[in-house]
Amino acid sequence: MISPVTPKWVEGTVVGQKRWTQTLFSLRVEADVAAFEAGQFAKLALAIGGEMVARPYSFVNAPNERPHEFYYVTLPDGPLTQRLCRLEAGDTVYLAPRPAGFLVLSEVPQAENLWLISTGTGIGPFLSILKTETPWQRFRQVVMVHAVRRAEELSYRESIERLAREHAEQLRALSFVSRETAVGSLSGRIPAAIEEGRLEAAAGTELSAKLSQVMICGNPEMVTDTSAALARRGMKKHRRREPGHITVENYW
Ligand SMILES: Cc1cc2nc3c(=O)[nH]c(=O)nc-3n(C[C@H](O)[C@H](O)[C@H](O)COP(=O)(O)OP(=O)(O)OC[C@H]3O[C@@H](n4cnc5c(N)ncnc54)[C@H](O)[C@@H]3O)c2cc1C
Ligand SMILES: NC(=O)c1ccc[n+]([C@@H]2O[C@H](COP(=O)([O-])OP(=O)(O)OC[C@H]3O[C@@H](n4cnc5c(N)ncnc54)[C@H](OP(=O)(O)O)[C@@H]3O)[C@@H](O)[C@H]2O)c1
Repeated sequence: MISPVTPKWVEGTVVGQKRWTQTLFSLRVEADVAAFEAGQFAKLALAIGGEMVARPYSFVNAPNERPHEFYYVTLPDGPLTQRLCRLEAGDTVYLAPRPAGFLVLSEVPQAENLWLISTGTGIGPFLSILKTETPWQRFRQVVMVHAVRRAEELSYRESIERLAREHAEQLRALSFVSRETAVGSLSGRIPAAIEEGRLEAAAGTELSAKLSQVMICGNPEMVTDTSAALARRGMKKHRRREPGHITVENYW
C-alpha cells in the first residue's frame, strides 16, 4: 500500500490584493490548507532564484471564512514582501499545508476580560479571533488595542466598527497613533499608557492579574516593553504548567 504523503507546498490562487497605503497590503488567497484555529498563521512561499522563500503570516479571516486573507507590510529590502505585493488575481502563491501557532484562545485561561494588544500588522490574528463566537462567549469584556505610527495605517477600520456595533456591550476598540496627532486615537506608546493608567481609563475596564488575560502581537520590542509594564502589575507569561496572564507572538 502506498502511504499518503503530505505535500511540502499547497498551490494557492490569489483572488485579490488590497493596497491600504504605500506599504500595507492584504492578500486574499484560495488554497486547500488544513483547518486552523483563529490566531494561527500560514506559511506563504514563492519560488525565488530556484528556492522556495517562505515566511509566516497570520490569518485575518475566521476559520470558516474563505478566501484566506493575510495583512502584511512591505519591508524595503524584504525578499518575500517585495514580491507578494506584486501578485495579482490569478497568480500562484504556495502555502505550507498545515497552519500553526499558539496565539489562540484555546491557550488562554479563563478571565473576566480579554485584552488584545498589537502594533502594525499584528492586528491581523485578533481580527480573526474577534470574528469567531469564542471571545464573546468566554469574556465579559474585550478590549482591542492597535498602535501605528500614522493614522493612515489604521487599516480594517470598517471591520472594527462592524464588530464594535455587533458587540457593543462587550467590545472596546482603541487605537494609538504615535507620530502625529489623530482625532479619536490615543498618543504615545502602549507600555507608557499602561504605566500611567491612561489605557485602562480609555477602555473603562480594569487591567489586572485578578481580572485579565492579555494577548500581544507585533513588534518584539513592544511585546517586551508591554510585558514588562504588565509584570509591574503582577502579571506574568502564561505557560501550560504555570498559568499566567500573558500570551504573545513576536513577528520578528
Ligand atoms: C509567527 C509569525 C507571524 C507573522 N505574521 C505576519 C503577518 O501577519 N503580517 C506581516 O506583515 N508579517 C508577519 N510576520 C513577519 C513575516 O513572516 C516576515 O518576516 C516579513 O513579511 C518580512 O519578510 P521579507 O522576506 O519581506 O523580509 P525579511 O528580510 O525576512 O525581513 C526584514 C526585516 O523586517 C522586519 N519585519 C519583519 N516583519 C515585520 C512586520 N510585520 N512589521 C514590521 N517589520 C517587520 C524585521 O526586522 C525583519 O528582520 C510574521 C512572523 C512570524 C514569526
Ligand atoms: N510605518 C511606516 O511608515 C514604514 C515605512 C517604511 C518602512 N517601514 C518598515 O516597517 C517596519 C515596521 O513599521 P511599522 O510602522 O509597521 O511598525 P513599528 O515600527 O513596530 O510601529 C508600530 C507602532 O509600534 C510602536 N512601537 C515601536 N516600538 C515600541 C516599543 N518598544 N514599545 C511600544 N510601542 C512601540 C510605534 O511607536 P513609535 O512611533 O513611538 O516608534 C508605533 O506606534 C519598520 O521597521 C520599517 O522597516 C515602515
